[in-house]
Amino acid sequence: MSSSKPPPAEGVRVHWEQLPPSIRGAIEEHIGGRVVRSRTQPGGFSPGLAALLTAAGGRNVFVKAVSGRVNPDTPGMHRREAEVVAALPPEAPVPRLLWSFTLGDWVALGFEAVIGRVPSQPWRDDELHLVIAGLRRLHELLTPTPIASETAGHVLATHIKGWGELQKLSTGGLDDWSTRNLDRLLDLESRAADASAGETLLHFDVRADNVLIARDKVYFVDWPWARIGAPFVDLVAFAPSVAMQGGPQPEDLLRMAAVKAEDGAIDAVIASLAGYFLAYARRPAPPGIPTVRAFQAAQGAITLAWLKERTGWS
Ligand SMILES: Nc1ncnc2c1ncn2[C@@H]1O[C@H](COP(=O)(O)OP(=O)(O)OP(=O)(O)O)[C@@H](O)[C@H]1O
Ligand SMILES: [Mg+2]
Repeated sequence: MSSSKPPPAEGVRVHWEQLPPSIRGAIEEHIGGRVVRSRTQPGGFSPGLAALLTAAGGRNVFVKAVSGRVNPDTPGMHRREAEVVAALPPEAPVPRLLWSFTLGDWVALGFEAVIGRVPSQPWRDDELHLVIAGLRRLHELLTPTPIASETAGHVLATHIKGWGELQKLSTGGLDDWSTRNLDRLLDLESRAADASAGETLLHFDVRADNVLIARDKVYFVDWPWARIGAPFVDLVAFAPSVAMQGGPQPEDLLRMAAVKAEDGAIDAVIASLAGYFLAYARRPAPPGIPTVRAFQAAQGAITLAWLKERTGWS
């Protein structure tokens, strides 16, 4: 990236006032009172409502709601998130799911409100240490996984085969280093599924916009991607976004987090993620989510530079 300012982690939000009256009414019924204040929350990509709602009487609830008309995939993601969060142990640093419903094209989820903020950008070391410690605790609490789920390895081996996708691009799509090393990259990528194996329920989408800090407590939000695997995978996947958003370089983050995994396993997962970011960044934007490709491209460049440094390949 030539610009030093990272692309925004922002989608196109729907505000409370813009929801169909029937959906507003159903949400108010679930909250148990009329909504007197709404604050659309920054951070995140879902093309729907993500707002702190205050009911008459002062109770706050965080509500996410999407319609399949804007993006056909998002209602399913919200349903999956509801399933996952409902199954997490109460000690997990995750806002509790209060209710969820489907009405027509819409899916809505209500969560315990966290009155806090997303981490500062550029990242500050104290907040990063807080998040790393929170993630370690989260992983301890979610080992063994509390739910049956697809594994992270399966996702890496099926949906995320970025280098395979990039290989099929007509020539000119790749930088020189990747072109020279494509066979080795494909080989590393193919090892990512085994390398990521573990027994922990991973968040699998840890980034500043999916973390909330309230005083010195950290919460992890936005769970539709949760999959089973080894804890280091969450840190490796988090690291490029931290560097992109003004924090330490990925290798320094792994050191800060005292990540313990074999170098080969880490390299395989980094390769898989680099391929994912770079391949998905070249795809057309998903409906209703125009900003996500620039966000992926910026992380792809950082992940690729990280892999070059670690492999030492010329
Ligand atoms: N329980 C909560 N209380 C207060 N604010 C929250 C809560 N959960 C999330 N937020 C805020 O709302 C933003 C969006 O929430 P979330 O990350 O769950 O949705 P999203 O990223 O838009 O969804 P998706 O990943 O499904 O596209 C977060 O970045 C955070 O700032
Ligand atoms: Mg989010």
